[in-house]
Amino acid sequence: MTGVKAHFPAPAWLVGCGNMAGAMVHGWQAAGIDLSSVTAIRPSGRKVEGVETSSALPAGAAPGFVMLGFKPQKLDEVVPSLAPSVGQGTILVSLLAGVSAATLRKRFPDARAIVRAMPNLPVAQQAGVTALFAEDEDSEALELVEALMVALGLAPWCPDEAAFAAIGAVAGSGPAYVARFGEALAGGGERLGLQPDLAVAIALQTLVGTATMAAATGEAMRDIARRVASPNGTTEQGLAVLDAPDGLQRLVDRMLDAAIRRGQELAAEAAARG
Ligand SMILES: NC(=O)c1ccc[n+]([C@@H]2O[C@H](COP(=O)([O-])OP(=O)(O)OC[C@H]3O[C@@H](n4cnc5c(N)ncnc54)[C@H](OP(=O)(O)O)[C@@H]3O)[C@@H](O)[C@H]2O)c1
Repeated sequence: MTGVKAHFPAPAWLVGCGNMAGAMVHGWQAAGIDLSSVTAIRPSGRKVEGVETSSALPAGAAPGFVMLGFKPQKLDEVVPSLAPSVGQGTILVSLLAGVSAATLRKRFPDARAIVRAMPNLPVAQQAGVTALFAEDEDSEALELVEALMVALGLAPWCPDEAAFAAIGAVAGSGPAYVARFGEALAGGGERLGLQPDLAVAIALQTLVGTATMAAATGEAMRDIARRVASPNGTTEQGLAVLDAPDGLQRLVDRMLDAAIRRGQELAAEAAARG
């Protein structure tokens, strides 16, 4: 892909702008992207900082860009009013977990291009991962979506929806998993007698420090672990627990399988409705 400048084709509608789309707005603001043509549409009408906010679809010109940022279960509630505005000048980006490109194409048959995007919450800090998938071949539209997502962090294109689902399971949901591990590390520190605040602070700094070090040096995770664990030392005993046959990798595999299964259920439900 080429280096297209990130911008929003006007007018741009963020249909549903809660946790996730709101985090993206934050990231785009931080990246200095012009949001003057963007309207966030949310039934509550609650203000989204940095963009126009409306409780209903704006009247007037058809949108050049629409991003679906509501829950997948709301798709059929939203389609009847939105689909007539999504025409051949509209690039449609969907954040809806588990709703396939084919299902979206059925609901929005006239869209210029449809891109599935699966971001994660650190997009707000421009440190996100956003998986991208499209069946359409409008390279100008795809390059523009890529430029907008690259402004928020890593944004890999997926060759198929299985790879897209895999990145969603690992990275889309990932902050929840990493946060749980941080919480468990802090909880463990507390159990060993540390004050709760201190336990939380050192767990957080250990996560940040390890990630910063790995990103800065490019050192493999396995090598970092090896470097911390001296032979017959304390860390090695701790790692042996994680490395047991029913240890961390097994647990992570079960965790990812459960998330993938739920994505498949959502996809089947969305396809059945259409
Ligand atoms: N959270 C994540 O980490 C994450 C990661 C990847 C993908 N996603 C995807 O992002 C989407 C949104 O998730 P979220 O966590 O941001 O949910 P959320 O915080 O609950 O936000 C949902 C948004 O949808 C709006 N909404 C509800 N009904 C609507 C309707 N009929 N028409 C238009 N907008 C409507 C809500 O409006 P109000 O603000 O007025 O209530 C809210 O702004 C989901 O499809 C999810 O699969 C989320």
